Amino acid sequence: MPLVGILTGGGDCPGLNAVIRAAVRRVANDGWDSVGVVDGWKGLLTGDTMELTVDNTIDIIARGGTILGTSRTNPYKRPEDVEKLLETYTALGLDGLIAIGGDDTLGVADKLVKDHALNIVGVPKTIDNDLSCTDFTFGFDTAVNIATESIDRIVTTARSHHRCLVVECMGRHAGWIAGYVGMASGADITLVPEKPIDMDRVIAVLKRNRQQGRNYNVVVVSEGAVFQAGDYVTSYEGEVDEFGNVRLGGVANRVAELIEKHTGYETRSVVLGHLQRGGVPTAFDRVLATRLGYAAAELVLKGDFGKMVALRGNEIVAADLSEAVGETKTLDMDLFAIAEAFFTVD
Ligand code: F6P
Repeated sequence: MPLVGILTGGGDCPGLNAVIRAAVRRVANDGWDSVGVVDGWKGLLTGDTMELTVDNTIDIIARGGTILGTSRTNPYKRPEDVEKLLETYTALGLDGLIAIGGDDTLGVADKLVKDHALNIVGVPKTIDNDLSCTDFTFGFDTAVNIATESIDRIVTTARSHHRCLVVECMGRHAGWIAGYVGMASGADITLVPEKPIDMDRVIAVLKRNRQQGRNYNVVVVSEGAVFQAGDYVTSYEGEVDEFGNVRLGGVANRVAELIEKHTGYETRSVVLGHLQRGGVPTAFDRVLATRLGYAAAELVLKGDFGKMVALRGNEIVAADLSEAVGETKTLDMDLFAIAEAFFTVD
């Protein structure tokens, strides 16, 4: 029987298991077998695989994380790893491979298609929602809901203590999560990577809101927000992954210190971190992930490789992998302008 491999790479994301389940089911309906490649590209270096059947994936739709495991392994870091990967791909007898990942994982997929004509179809995944060619990535809706619910809780304690709370959301290059969460939670102000942080403005907005009767404040900040272009504030100086991504986390602490210093308001910071990637996916993400997994399987069955399935409007379409990995999709500034209407001071 023909065989499709499935792997998940990069940071995990609620909805990955729903993609796997849908792809396994769709190919099985046409008589194909599936095999899980363990821990992303690493599994194609080690040959570590797991059986994937309709039976063992039947009840995974609501499960967070990925049953396949994941890693940030970059086979292009060492030329010998690419050779090893090609050997494993051949040894496994794969007729196709579904790679579910973000920019880094799909960037590797794109190179493997171009350089070695591997039969790969990509599925976009990231809670950050920053992949081009697709309107939304699954996992984003779950992350936004978790963060919004967390802030609803943070507000009750902030109000009791008349404090300012600075809440840090994930979002390395793009402020999608912070932008949505700030708007949904009614934060005083939201700080995103797309615009350098202007502390004078932050302070003016917080003071104005206190004068208008709010006795507490909430500031939402993306982990990738900067005071100056290209200059991340992180508690993990010097730590990078195999794709050269800086480990982020900590900008909220810096913003909180400055707020307390310049306003005198008692201020605390909270880094939501991996909470945003954990737990069960929302119904929206389960449905989107299922549609994407199903569509990816159909491309494999048709032999239409070098593509990434994507959401455009409410349609699932096939985009070229190279187009999808070429550019970061930053926050829609027209949308952000609506949020900004609430933090105008003059
Ligand atoms: O997957 C994207 C992401 O969640 C980013 O928002 C964040 O910067 C990064 O992953 C965290 O990575 P790790 O789980 O390796 O700490």
